[in-house]
Amino acid sequence: MAEVRARWKGRPHFLMAAVGSAVGLGNIWRFPYIAYVNGGGAFLIPFFVALLTAGIPLMMLEYGLGIRMQGAPHVAFSKIKRGLEWIGWWSILAAFVIITYYAVVMAWCWNYLYHSFTLAWGEDAKGFFFSKVLQLSGGPAELGGIPMGILLGLLITWVVIYFIIYKGIGRVGRVVMATVPIPVILIGILVVRGLTLPGAVDGLNFYLTPDFSKLLDPKVWLAAYGQVFFSLSLAMGIMIVYASYLPEDSDVTNNAFITSFTDAGTSFFAGFAIFSTLGYLAHATGVDISKVAGAGPGLAFVTIPTAISLLPFAAAFFGVIFFLTLLTLAVDSLFSLVEADVTAMIDKWGIRRERATFVICFAAFLIGLIFTSKGGLYWLDIVDHWINNYGLAAIGLAEVIVIGYIVGTKPFREFINSCSEVKVGIWWDYMIKIVTPIILGATLITSFIGEIKKAYGGYPMWALIIGGWAMVVGIIVVSFLLMRAKGKGGEST
Ligand code: PHE
Repeated sequence: MAEVRARWKGRPHFLMAAVGSAVGLGNIWRFPYIAYVNGGGAFLIPFFVALLTAGIPLMMLEYGLGIRMQGAPHVAFSKIKRGLEWIGWWSILAAFVIITYYAVVMAWCWNYLYHSFTLAWGEDAKGFFFSKVLQLSGGPAELGGIPMGILLGLLITWVVIYFIIYKGIGRVGRVVMATVPIPVILIGILVVRGLTLPGAVDGLNFYLTPDFSKLLDPKVWLAAYGQVFFSLSLAMGIMIVYASYLPEDSDVTNNAFITSFTDAGTSFFAGFAIFSTLGYLAHATGVDISKVAGAGPGLAFVTIPTAISLLPFAAAFFGVIFFLTLLTLAVDSLFSLVEADVTAMIDKWGIRRERATFVICFAAFLIGLIFTSKGGLYWLDIVDHWINNYGLAAIGLAEVIVIGYIVGTKPFREFINSCSEVKVGIWWDYMIKIVTPIILGATLITSFIGEIKKAYGGYPMWALIIGGWAMVVGIIVVSFLLMRAKGKGGEST
């Protein structure tokens, strides 16, 4: 007897959860920098074009699939055609890979939350991060043990995630009511602090002064599409799973617009916090802003801490605020990925949610130990590069090809319109059939050419083969095996 599928308490819960997944570390440590290197204020043009021509159409596709098929991505694709189930597994496994290292980044954040009370990084934030906290080894071949602080952080992360997920979608819905607004408020505090510092205006000029000549560079456009896909958490099965807990006649289009614009707005807003602070850092140290601007862990764990130490008063307070922001940004992105995998297990084998959650959390914890080790940062960097460049784009491409050419955009659009407040026109068909496949195809090809031209990050070839190519091929092979594995196809509760 099939059980009744669990439901969100209401539309706001679903929307908050989707926004929580989309708004993550990428909004604060990726968007501002990508905008700055790709034309500053002028980047907003390709960014919005990418949002409207690919991000939102693909989000509608994923919401539509989840609502219509009422199941995890593998269920959705196998309902389209039995032999396509593997595409769903592909996204679920890619999500699992991201989970294993995203949790480690959260582990660093817990450590820094603790260290910010005493501003423990002192004068040398760089040395502190790499030598003290990560205890970074000489290269990917030297794993060399696990620093206790990070291990503890990883454990805390997984306990927190387990308790949020194991009870089901109802609890997720309640948790996001806090974890979504909190970081936005905290970013607001950081913006006010940043803007009232000397040098802030120079920082903002750097961030936003438009360089329209960049719009002629195709790389800038690809960067915009890449940022949109990443930021909206597309192609990882998340939006399909979250939408599958909505009733079958739920709105698609308006939900997609709301989620996407909220995410984009938060990115733009976070840029004010980051660049005003960088402007202050440049002002206080006399170093040019172009030298201090950066993205990723270097920005969050070295540059911003350096600036925080230089604050005129209450530096520790703002340090705590900053790392709380990162933690609350990251947590709902992480559990959205976990939820996608847990739902997939429940939908395939009909096992109990507690058990599925435990299996995923524990397995991800164990694999995460690699990224926690002293050589872990190298592996994290390699795996992240491959999953973002080949996982995301390839899965997105498969999705639009299946809907565009196997299901057909017209019947799919008619379904979407039958339950949506805002009706989409034929433009959606063109975006799914032509624009998005071309962009994703071009992204895959340019990334691949880049790989051949230069070994990524200067790492030894064997490490790139293991952490990059073998990982990607492994995911595809396992996807096929999972498709063939017998399931119960039970519904979740
Ligand atoms: N959207 C999240 C961010 O911007 C990252 C993310 C990507 C989360 C893919 C889940 C899946 O940080």
